[in-house]
Amino acid sequence: MKTTIDNLYSIQTLLPIGRRVLMLLLLSIFIVACQKDPAIEEPEDEVITLQVPKGFPYPKIPDDNQPTRNRIDLGKKIFFDPILSRDSTISCGSCHLTDKKFTDSLQFSVGIGGKLTTRNSMTILNTAYQPNMFWDGGYHRSSNKY
Ligand code: HEC
Repeated sequence: MKTTIDNLYSIQTLLPIGRRVLMLLLLSIFIVACQKDPAIEEPEDEVITLQVPKGFPYPKIPDDNQPTRNRIDLGKKIFFDPILSRDSTISCGSCHLTDKKFTDSLQFSVGIGGKLTTRNSMTILNTAYQPNMFWDGGYHRSSNKY
């Protein structure tokens, strides 16, 4: 009987210590996981000067979001990757089709599961020059709000 009580006592004393050790272990794993792996090198990147058609001004681009080769490549991948949609079936390119001047040429755009939206997708060409976006101008670039 005494042994059982002793065991219980020692388990109760050990439990908080075990929890602390576990927390410490998790914390060190987290810290190690967050450290930069010296073996993984950042790919070379360079800011790119966009080629704008004659007569077009150079678009205003925030200093902290200048176009680089990597950013452009990533944007292209994300644009055509359906993984961003809730059920991984629709990408930006599903509604803004490259062969339809980045529209879908439908009356109403088609969302997930064939559900119709209330508007159609306008072209996204030259949006770099637009202060407002969407059919009702509901998004203003400088406000960052809808
Ligand atoms: C289901 C179809 C659909 C998908 C998918 C979609 N869009 Fe759109 N997009 C629209 C519609 C519809 C509008 C117009 C919305 C409005 O006026 O309220 C629009 C508007 C826009 C506009 C505003 C253009 C302007 O001239 O005002 C941009 C920019 C845009 N989309 C980019 C994207 C990007 C980037 C993605 C992917 C992350 C995306 N869209 C995915 C349908 C879609």
